[in-house]
Amino acid sequence: MSMELNQSDILNPMEVLNDWMKEVSEAEKQPNPNCFSIATTNQEGSSNVRMVLCREINIVDGYVVFYSNYNSTKAIELAYQPKCSGVFHWDNYGYQIRIKGYALKSPHDESDDYFLSRSLGSQVAAWASEQSNSIGSRKDLESQFDKALKKFNIERKQLAINDKKLPRPPFWGGYRIWIHQIEIWLNQNNRFHDRLLFQRDLSLKGNAYISTQGWTKKRLQP
Ligand SMILES: Cc1cc2nc3c(=O)[nH]c(=O)nc-3n(C[C@H](O)[C@H](O)[C@H](O)COP(=O)(O)O)c2cc1C
Repeated sequence: MSMELNQSDILNPMEVLNDWMKEVSEAEKQPNPNCFSIATTNQEGSSNVRMVLCREINIVDGYVVFYSNYNSTKAIELAYQPKCSGVFHWDNYGYQIRIKGYALKSPHDESDDYFLSRSLGSQVAAWASEQSNSIGSRKDLESQFDKALKKFNIERKQLAINDKKLPRPPFWGGYRIWIHQIEIWLNQNNRFHDRLLFQRDLSLKGNAYISTQGWTKKRLQP
């Protein structure tokens, strides 16, 4: 565990996110060490936050990836306002990392590859759920799952064997959050914590954000 944050030691804050994620994941002390919250904004200007799972940290380009339903509430909000923010928190370690960035859908082939890596049950569930829409009952939800099984000629017992792969639903895929601000927070005694804030300018080039200047950094008071 890091004991203190030294400004001069950290050139790329994405390395810290990656190192902390690795450290916490390898310890296997929590079920979803890769979870983080993502906050979006709706057209009325109100914020909305929920947990998602971080599936990739790109240190060089400075983005993180999560997967979701492209018709969900979060997706509608990200289409309206791609500026979003998130927080990772590992309480056992006294680590917090806050990010602000711009969301862009992942390239199709990357989403395809990730979808293929999911269990058959998770693949069926992605097809079966109109995420964020209402439904009458749990029974109705189960019948949507059954319909998806039927659509792909899958028997329930196959779910345990995991012997089939489905195509990725067109309404499901990844988001890259291109980070322009990241704050690394380390717990210290007497609530006199370490906070380092890193910022960079990003400009959109095609389907990616480019930074020409790199990261600037400053220390914040706790
Ligand atoms: C630990 C945890 C991890 C989650 N991971 C994801 C995820 O990776 N993708 C996702 O769409 N929803 C995930 N969810 C569910 C979301 O929190 C949320 O309920 C769902 O995405 C619908 O959000 P929305 O209606 O705001 O779009 C996760 C929930 C928890 C508690």
